[in-house]
Amino acid sequence: MTRNQMVPPFYVTTPIYYVNAKPHLGHAYTTVSADVACRFHAMLGEDTFFLTGTDEHGDKIVKAALQENISPGEYADRISRLFHDLWPLFHIGNDHFIRTTDPAHAVVVGRILQKIFDSGDIYFSEYEGLYCFGCERFYMERELVDGKCPDHGAKPETIKESNYFFKMSRYQDWLIDHIKTHPDFIQPERYRNEIMAFLREPLEDLCISRPKSRLEWGISLPFDDNYVTYVWFDALINYISALGYPEGGAFHKFWPEARHIVAKDILKPHGIYWPIMLKAAGIEPYQHLYVHGYWNIDESKMSKSIGNVVDPYHLQSAYGADAVRYFLMREMVFGLDSNFSESLMIERINADLANDLGNLFSRVLAMIHKYFDGCVPKIAPAVRNGETADLFEISRHATKTFKTEMAGFAFHKAIQTVWELISAMNKYVVTNAPWELAKSADKKSRDRLADVMYNLIEGLRVIAGLIFPVMPQTSRTMQKHLGIGDTDALSSFDRISIWGTTPPGVKLPEPVTLFPRIETQKPAAAGKAPVEPKPMLNLKPEISFEDVTRLDLRVATVIAAENIPKAKKLLKLTVDLGAEQRTIVAGIAKSYSPEEIVGRQIVVVANLKPAKLMGVQSQGMLLAAVTDETSVVVAPSAGGIPAGTVVR
Ligand code: ME8
Ligand code: MG
Repeated sequence: MTRNQMVPPFYVTTPIYYVNAKPHLGHAYTTVSADVACRFHAMLGEDTFFLTGTDEHGDKIVKAALQENISPGEYADRISRLFHDLWPLFHIGNDHFIRTTDPAHAVVVGRILQKIFDSGDIYFSEYEGLYCFGCERFYMERELVDGKCPDHGAKPETIKESNYFFKMSRYQDWLIDHIKTHPDFIQPERYRNEIMAFLREPLEDLCISRPKSRLEWGISLPFDDNYVTYVWFDALINYISALGYPEGGAFHKFWPEARHIVAKDILKPHGIYWPIMLKAAGIEPYQHLYVHGYWNIDESKMSKSIGNVVDPYHLQSAYGADAVRYFLMREMVFGLDSNFSESLMIERINADLANDLGNLFSRVLAMIHKYFDGCVPKIAPAVRNGETADLFEISRHATKTFKTEMAGFAFHKAIQTVWELISAMNKYVVTNAPWELAKSADKKSRDRLADVMYNLIEGLRVIAGLIFPVMPQTSRTMQKHLGIGDTDALSSFDRISIWGTTPPGVKLPEPVTLFPRIETQKPAAAGKAPVEPKPMLNLKPEISFEDVTRLDLRVATVIAAENIPKAKKLLKLTVDLGAEQRTIVAGIAKSYSPEEIVGRQIVVVANLKPAKLMGVQSQGMLLAAVTDETSVVVAPSAGGIPAGTVVR
C-alpha cells in the first residue's frame, strides 16, 4: 500500500540464518532490531519492507543433516520452520521470509553469476591451497594461528583443485572510494574503520565454486554444471532476489533504500564481498550496513559452536515478547557487546517496566476512575493546546530526541528518553498530589485536579505512542485503556506530540496491570503460617554419578600468563599437565595479575571441548570460586602435587 509518495520508502534486512542449528537469542536480537526500526519508519509514514529468512546450502547443513540421518532438504525444512514460526511470537512483522532453497532465488543467483561471468570477472584456475573444511574456505598462511584455523583449531588440509574465482581486486579502489564518499555506508564508525583497514591490503580473488564431487548441496553454476556456487555468493543475493530482481516492482522501489543489519561476525562478506558483487553485476550498492556487537555469556560469544546459547522460546514464554524486546533494545548499545544474564533481565523488567511504567499507568488510571468516574476530565482549551500544560514541553522534547536517536539506530538512547519522560511524570504526580486536590470541593481545586489528570493522560498517550516500535502489544493495550484507537496515534509519528489529542469526556475501561512484577522467590501460600524462606542455592538440575565421572579434572601448574588485549577479565595461561602443555583462557584477570598466578597449582577440566575466547583457543577450563567481584582459583592445599594428577 502506498502511504506517502513524498517520503522515500524503507527497506531493512536481517542476515538469513544458517539452518544448521535452532534459533538463539543472538538471532532474536538482530530480528527484533530490524522490526523496531521498521515499525518506527512506518510511523514516519514511510512505505516499508522488512526481510528475514534462512540460509540453507553448504557443507555445514549437509553435516548437520547427516548427524540426524535425514536429507539436507528435510533438515533445512525442519530448522527453517523453527525460525519462521519463532518470529510471530516476538511480534516480528516481516513482509517476507526468504529461503535460499526457494526456486525463484536460485534463478536470480544463476542470472547474477552469468552476468558477472559474461563481463569477464570470473575465471577458472587450478589452485593449491590450505582448506579448512569447518569454514568451507581456503586460508592464506598469514591468516592461520600456529598453522591452524583460528576458528576451528584444526590444521587445514592442502587441496589442489580447479575452481572459479571472482576478481574482487578489480573493484578494490572503487570500494575504497565509495566508502570515502559515503561516510555512513557502514555504521557505527568502528566497523567502517575496520573495513577500511582491511582494504589497505590488496584483496585476494574470491573462490566462488565448489566441485560437486565434494559438495552437492548448493546452486549449480550456470556455466559449469560440475560445480555449485560458494554459499556466501548464494546467500548475499537473497537481499535482491526477495525483491524480485531484476524486473520486480519491489526491487525498483525498495532496493535504492536498502539497509542491512548484521553482527560483526559477518562484517567482511557484507562490507566487502557484497558491494563488490553488486558493482560487478551492475547494481547500485545498498545504502547502509548497520553492524552490532555480540551478546556474550560470561565474556564469550553466545554461539551454537560453543553451545552456550539462550533459548528465545523460553524467554518469550517466561517473560512475554514485549518485555524481552524491551530488554534487548535497552540493554545493548548498538555496535558494542553486551553480557546476557536472566537475572539482569528480571531486574530491568521489574524496575523499568513493572515499577516505572506499569505503576504510573495503573496509578493514573485508578485516579481517573476514582475522581472522575473513569471519564477523561474536561479542561480549559489552553491546557488542551499545551499552552499551560506542565508536561507539554517535556513530552515534546522527549519525542524530538526519540526521533533522532531511533533514526540513528541508537535504540537504547531513544528508550532512555522515554524513561526520562516517565520519571518526570512520576515526579509530577508527587508534586501535584492529586489526592490532596481531590479533598477540596472548591472550583479552583477541582479545575486544577482536572488539568493535572488530563496532562497525565496526555503524557501517557505520548508514551504509548513512543514505545510502539519496541513494545507494540503494550502500546496497543495502553492506547485502548486511554480511550484512543490505536490506528490513529500509530499511523503518524508527528501526531504523537500534538498535545490535547485525547478527547475529554471519553469513558475509559478499568485499569489493567501492564507488567506483573517477577518474583524470584515464591511467596508463602495464603492461609498457611508464613514459612521462613529457605536460602536459595539456585542449583542446576540433578545429575548422576556417571555424569560426574565424565569430567576429567586434573592438577596443573601455571607456567606462563599474560593479559589478553581488549579482554579486561581474561588471562591467557600456559599450564603444565605433566604429559603436555596447554593454553587456557580464564576469567580471573580482575583478581590475579599474570605474575601472581604463575607458579601456582590449579585444577582444570581437562577434557572440555576447546573453544575460542577473544581470538585465543582455550583447551580446558580452570576451577575457581566466583562471585560478581572476585574469583579465587581452586588449588590443592598441599603444594607439589605432580602436574596431571587426577582430581576426584
Ligand atoms: O552468518 N550476538 O548465519 P548465522 C548477537 N548465514 N547476534 C548474534 C549472535 C550473538 N551472540 N550470534 C548470532 C550466517 N547472531 C549467514 C548469514 S547473510 C547473507 C548470511 C546473529 O546463523 C547476528 O545477526 O551464523 C549474526 O550476524 C547472525 O546471527 C549470524 O547468523
Ligand atoms: Mg555464525
